[in-house]
Amino acid sequence: MVTSSALQAFLDKLQHLESAFEAAVEEVEDPEDLENIRVTYLSRRGSLVQALSELKDLPEADRPEAGKTANLVKQRLQDRYTQLRDQLQQQREQARREAFDPTLPGRSPWTGTLHPVTLVSEEICTVFQGLGYQVVTGPEVETDFYNFEALNIPQDHPARDMQDTLYLSDSIVLRTHTSPLQIRTMQEQRPPLAAVAPGKVYRRDADLTHSPMFNQIEGFLVDKEISMADLRGTLTHFLRRIFSQNIRIRFRPSFFPFTEPSAEVDISCVICSGKGYSEDGSPCRVCKQTGFVEILGCGMIDPEVFKAVGYDPESYSGFAFGLGIERVAMLKYGIDDLRLFFDNDLPFLDQFRFYPAI
Ligand code: PHE
Repeated sequence: MVTSSALQAFLDKLQHLESAFEAAVEEVEDPEDLENIRVTYLSRRGSLVQALSELKDLPEADRPEAGKTANLVKQRLQDRYTQLRDQLQQQREQARREAFDPTLPGRSPWTGTLHPVTLVSEEICTVFQGLGYQVVTGPEVETDFYNFEALNIPQDHPARDMQDTLYLSDSIVLRTHTSPLQIRTMQEQRPPLAAVAPGKVYRRDADLTHSPMFNQIEGFLVDKEISMADLRGTLTHFLRRIFSQNIRIRFRPSFFPFTEPSAEVDISCVICSGKGYSEDGSPCRVCKQTGFVEILGCGMIDPEVFKAVGYDPESYSGFAFGLGIERVAMLKYGIDDLRLFFDNDLPFLDQFRFYPAI
């Protein structure tokens, strides 16, 4: 077939365009290169559309042939483009799959832990719940009646001094101990009753071994014919569960306005095992060579306290005890600085992650 020179020129142009496209495609490395090629050749302003627009300038007789070839070229370019685009996408997915190593250990999110005060408090509650005690809580802002009056603490008692107590008004205080919970619980219930009451207490005290806020737990039991022997048996069981079955326990006579008789309880030093000396022969700093550390205050509930809540002291008797939770935690975990409990020092707190509750 004889081809007109105009047609020939048009076909040459298409061929050039296709070779240039092929050459450019060979160089493609990433989706950005491919996009440039699409814009240059295949977009509405690209060179292919440009070339096709010249069809209409050809002689009438050449147009079918020219149109057919042009369409084939256009089709090939577009197919090649689609093929390359899919190929690049597959490569990218493959690379992503290879970069993901399912054998790497996972990154677990950081989680908080229970505070040692919470741990110990829960532990103590668990031991007493095992003995049938209920857990009760009450307000940290107390009236003079619950914090002092009903507990037989007289007007002139030093505990009532502005030096020791944080007063909010003449008759409202931040509770200085958890003993008000004895009164509140006895008012609400009738004997027999047994409860533990954990919570924050406040005193005007701040130095290396005292904090203006600390935690106590109160325990009390009221029934008929409760004796000091019941108190001793209960506390012995409790202290051996919390510290160790091997500790020795000592009751020393003491005084509290709301118990009579009263005692303070010492346990053999858990740091030096009651020897008074450390492994290296130096005097034990925790028990100061005595072999014992004080752990709680207790006694038989005073008849005056029963009168304040309307119980007949002739019919009922009971015991009560109170202890500092931070102190138990310090002895149990060998912590020698009270401030660590209040500093929000995460590396310190994180160490309690693996202490199981009993
Ligand atoms: N409330 C006393 C204190 O804070 C402790 C205590 C409680 C003593 C119950 C005897 C009985 O020191």
